[in-house]
Parts: sequence; structure tokens; C-alpha cells
Amino acid sequence: MSSLPPGPRMPRALQAIGWTQRPLPFLERCQRRYGDTFTLRILHWGDWVILADPDDVKKVFTAGSAVGVGVANPLLGPVLGPRSVMLLEEPEHMTRRKLMLPSFHGRSVAAEAEAMAEAARREVASWPLGEPFALWPRMQEITLDVVMRAVFGPEPEPRLDTLRQRLRDLTGWMNEPRNLAMLAVFGPGWVTRSRGYQGAMVPVEEAVMEEVRRRRAEPEREDIVSMLVQARYEDGSPMSDRDLRDELVTLLSDGPTSTSLAWAFERLLRNPEALGRARADALDGDGSYLDAVVKETLRLRPPVPVVVRRLLEPMRLGGCELPAGTTVAPCIHLIHRSARYYPRPRLFRPERFIEQPAGTYTWIPFGGGVRRCLAASYAEMEMKRVLRTVLSTVELRSATADSERARKSAISFSPDRSGMVIAERRSADPVGTSTLAAA
Ligand code: HEM
Repeated sequence: MSSLPPGPRMPRALQAIGWTQRPLPFLERCQRRYGDTFTLRILHWGDWVILADPDDVKKVFTAGSAVGVGVANPLLGPVLGPRSVMLLEEPEHMTRRKLMLPSFHGRSVAAEAEAMAEAARREVASWPLGEPFALWPRMQEITLDVVMRAVFGPEPEPRLDTLRQRLRDLTGWMNEPRNLAMLAVFGPGWVTRSRGYQGAMVPVEEAVMEEVRRRRAEPEREDIVSMLVQARYEDGSPMSDRDLRDELVTLLSDGPTSTSLAWAFERLLRNPEALGRARADALDGDGSYLDAVVKETLRLRPPVPVVVRRLLEPMRLGGCELPAGTTVAPCIHLIHRSARYYPRPRLFRPERFIEQPAGTYTWIPFGGGVRRCLAASYAEMEMKRVLRTVLSTVELRSATADSERARKSAISFSPDRSGMVIAERRSADPVGTSTLAAA
């Protein structure tokens, strides 16, 4: 313990409260007091050495087999399952990653982009006019639509509506504040023992495996389930049922894209100049400003504020010799908020990414190295596409006076009032109607 860098000396239970209740201010306070490298000691989670210097983060991300998996989020193990690419150790992780890469990189970009826009158009058409509503659940509907189409294919099939509802129920269970509180108090073991979790997870697993069986019977389809069912390891063997269950649940439980979209609107609607430029780009631009909006949103409100690794060999980080077995946590949030790399870091200013490209180790919302998000470019494209469609279809304004704070939800950090907005007809639109569907 003494070989780890200093950090708060309060009891583990209190550190757990800081971490679960107000994690971002807690991290910032610790950095002010202890610098870029400090140790948190969190009940149920052990000791984490937080790294906020990009040189240290680079060292960890490029360390190859000298680092192993660490789990930043207690829900990941039970929900994704032990055979998920996110939780496999090397060399198995890399073998699996190669099998999964074509899922997001071998597909028709134009067809995907149009499907994303279509999902957004359909959703916007159902929004009420002139009354407040929460944007985050609406963004969840869009991203669920998009991922369902990618994973199961474009044809509407009634039984997939059942799976869609089961996934909503599972997400609802995971984001339920009471369940998040129980998890913080009793630790990850509580999840699998909970009847509520079983009740939400088992129907999802059954429906997912039903799709796997169907794709085995009709292998010529081009969706992700079919690709994974047909994929073969180098020795010619297919993925097992367990592998398929875990990978498909991993893909379907995407949370960061919907929270990032909710944040993009939350920030834009409070920054009229940026909103004006984004709208102009959406209506008649080359997309470069929308690209900068996506980058700036992921900088200022990264939905995943830390990633975690376990050192398999001793490593010198932050001036300390850390022993093998240490858990280290590259801190996306603190690096993104550093005035060293981002002048006036708390300002939402997309222009910074037009003036300067994103740095490999100073802009890391998707993590880095061999575990960098498999769907990073796909997710950025989705965000841009949804922003473009929404901004060119409807005028939104914020429904609340104050900025929303980041709240820890199941998979990522979301706006604490779920992004309250009011939709209004675009001025060019025809006469008044009660919903945008009719406009
Ligand atoms: C804005 C949206 C997203 C953000 C910010 C994000 C962020 C991340 C981060 C930080 C990691 C690295 C975790 C680590 O280093 O331990 C990661 C990994 C991963 N993400 Fe994403 N993600 C996003 C969207 C998605 C989507 C849409 C999918 C798929 C549907 C996805 C699938 C994955 C997978 C499979 C991995 C594991 C990669 C590996 O371990 O090799 N992500 N993501």
C-alpha cells in the first residue's frame, strides 16, 4: 500500500460515496490536492491509481501484454458476461477483437448513415410540440433502433419488437436509482443475486439466443449476428453459444452514444452561437462544424470518464514504481479538463477542434491502444447523423435555466435531468400541428 501514490485518507466507505455520488468533482478535488497521479481506495473496488498525465496514459495504452483487464463498472461483468471482448485477457482478447472488427468496419457506410437518419426522423416525428420532455430517453430510442438494425438486419420482424422491449426493460432496471444505490452499497455480487436483474436479463438472453439459432439455420444474411455466427477462429472453430451471447449483449447494451447525444443537445442549447453554427452546418454545410460539436461534446462530457487496467508487470508511472497487480485508471475526464491542452477548458467551444486536430492521448473518449472502442468511428458517424437530422427538422430550446450536471447512470454519465427540452416547429414549417409527425 505504501508504494502507491498518495490520495485521500478518508475511510473507504466515504471514498465510495464520493465516487458514486459526485465522482467528477471528487476526482477534480483529488487532482487539485495530490496532482496528476493519486490513489483512490474505494469500498468493494480496492485501490485505483488515477492517471491524469497523457504521457502516463500513453505508456499504459501502449504497454501490450504488460497490462490486463480492469473493470471500471461493476455492472459490466454480470451484464456483458465473462466472454465479452471487453473482459477477455490477451491473447484471447485480440483474437476475438479481430473476429468482431468486420461488424463495424466492413459494412456499407452510406446505408448505415441513411438508416441512422431515418431512425432519427421517425423519432423526431413523435415529439410533442411546446411542452417539456426529456431528451435522453428519446436518444436511447434512436440508438436502440440503429443498433438493432445493425445487429439483426433491416427487415422489420415482430419478434424483434419483443426483444427491443426486453432491452428497454433491462436498461430501465440498470438505470433505476435504487438499483444503482444497492450496487454501490453491496458491491458487484449483489447484481447476479438480485431477482430483478434475473427477471430483466434472462428474457433478453433467451431472445438473443433465439436469433442466433435462426441465423444458423439461414446463414446467408448480412447482419452482425449472421457475421458472428459464420465467423471462424484461425483453427476453424466457430464462436460458442456463450461467446455469442456475451458479444451480442455487449453490442446491444450500448449506452454511451445516447448519453453523448443528450449531452450534445444539452450543451448546444445553452450556447446560442455554437447552436447557430451547428444548425447552419446541418442545413447546408459540409459537416465539419457538426464533427467539431461531436468532438467537443465527447471532450467536455465524456460518457465514460475513466478506463481501468491491471498492471501485469511493474511500471513507472507518475514518478512512482508501481508493482505488478496495481490497478491503474487513465482518467479521460481530468485529461479533457486540463488547461494545459484545452485553454479555458470548461467552455463548450467546438471551434477548438477546427483550429487544431484532436490529440491521440489528450482526446481519449474512446479509450486507447488495443482496447480502444471497436465502434468509435461508427459512434461518431451516428452522433453526427442524428445531430444533422434533428437540427434540420426541429427547433429545440432548453426547458430549464441551469446547466445539467453529470450523473452516474448504469453504463455512462448522463445529464441529471435527462436533458429537458421543448420542441418547436421550425419557422419555415407549415401551420400549427400537435406533433411533428403531422408537420
Ligand atoms: C459515443 C459513444 C461511445 C463511447 C464514448 C465509447 C467508449 C468506449 C470506451 C472508453 C471503451 C474502452 C474501454 C476500455 O478501455 O476498457 C470502449 C470499448 C468498446 N466499445 Fe465503445 N463507446 C461508444 C460507443 C460504442 C458502440 C455504439 C458500440 C457497439 C455497439 C461500442 C462497443 C465497444 C466495444 C465492443 C468495446 C470493447 C473493445 C475492446 O475491448 O477491444 N461502443 N468504448
